[in-house]
Amino acid sequence: MVADELLNQDPQTEDLLFSGLRPTKLDHFVGQQKIKENLLVHMDAARQRGESLEHLLFYGPPGLGKTTLSHIIAGEMGVEIKITSGPAIERPGDLAAILTNLKEKDVLFIDEIHRLNHVVEEVLYPAMEDFGLDIVIGKGPSARSIRLDLPKFTLIGATTRAGLLSSPLRDRFGMVCRLEFYNLDELKQIITRAAKVLDIPIDPVGADEIAKRSRGTPRIATRLLRRVRDYAEVKTKGRIDKATAQMALSALEIDELGLDKIDRKILSSIIEKFGGGPVGLDTLANAIGEESDTIEDVIEPYLMQIGFVDRTPRGRTATPAAYKHLGLKSPAKENSKQEKLF
Ligand SMILES: Nc1ncnc2c1ncn2[C@@H]1O[C@H](COP(=O)(O)OP(=O)(O)OP(=O)(O)O)[C@@H](O)[C@H]1O
Ligand SMILES: [Mg+2]
Repeated sequence: MVADELLNQDPQTEDLLFSGLRPTKLDHFVGQQKIKENLLVHMDAARQRGESLEHLLFYGPPGLGKTTLSHIIAGEMGVEIKITSGPAIERPGDLAAILTNLKEKDVLFIDEIHRLNHVVEEVLYPAMEDFGLDIVIGKGPSARSIRLDLPKFTLIGATTRAGLLSSPLRDRFGMVCRLEFYNLDELKQIITRAAKVLDIPIDPVGADEIAKRSRGTPRIATRLLRRVRDYAEVKTKGRIDKATAQMALSALEIDELGLDKIDRKILSSIIEKFGGGPVGLDTLANAIGEESDTIEDVIEPYLMQIGFVDRTPRGRTATPAAYKHLGLKSPAKENSKQEKLF
């Protein structure tokens, strides 16, 4: 049950509840070195010219810091950030209302920008390109279109699925940044800092243990930290050392690679029900009772990153490493043994 709660927790509410964990300065934002360097240059240049920042697109798996970076940018530029999301903007009028309320250089953050509907997207094009808004006044033969000038704002779009963005929209971003999974050292720094903010005593080896199981993702790292703290408070004396971290994480059914029940269910399903694959995403989703979007956006990227799942044109396949992790014999090995026999 506990593991299910972990998976199902609404990330947005969770981030709000623990908003103190969000770094507010680019200097305190761990990792994503290349993006930070580019952003620093870009922000300096815009400041020197007294201009607004160019439109930015952040993409990558959930929990890697897209929203956090957007807030940091607005903070560093000393401008306001207005937050909305693709599905929340239903009609062109909704977008027009948002755009006309912006001030010069403000940041408009559109989360899940791949879910903007087509009609709204069309209104966004001239707004991004020429800071203009075309509105139609009147109806029938007397209708006429007028152009409203908008303040020079910065649009920051975030998406887990850059592939779903239309190319005219993508082309209108001055900078497109792909966020990468974090390495162990970076995760450890994030965990140590979060422990300080939340006043949790933790040993470096305890932080290591949590980092290893965080699937390269800061949101998961801080989430695991809080769960391990609960465990440490109840079962040991409150300090998170290596043994407490290990005990707590196995109680949560999170293995030494950070995979949980659902990850293992996907892997064993590909292997046992579909002979190792290839199996289509929808078929797989049906077999394990998950949404295919969740598999594609949230679960699969990490399984691919660690080389457990391959995406082929015919579907997903499990790699020999996945077989090994689940303690199963890989057919590839059996074949090679057979080859040796003959
Ligand atoms: N580089 C980082 N350093 C420290 N903490 C981070 C970092 N990146 C993310 N976090 C933490 O992880 C949490 C999730 O980050 P954020 O909300 O920015 O991710 P996201 O990419 O917007 O995810 P989603 O796609 O789900 O919207 C934040 O609450 C923040 O505390
Ligand atoms: Mg976000």
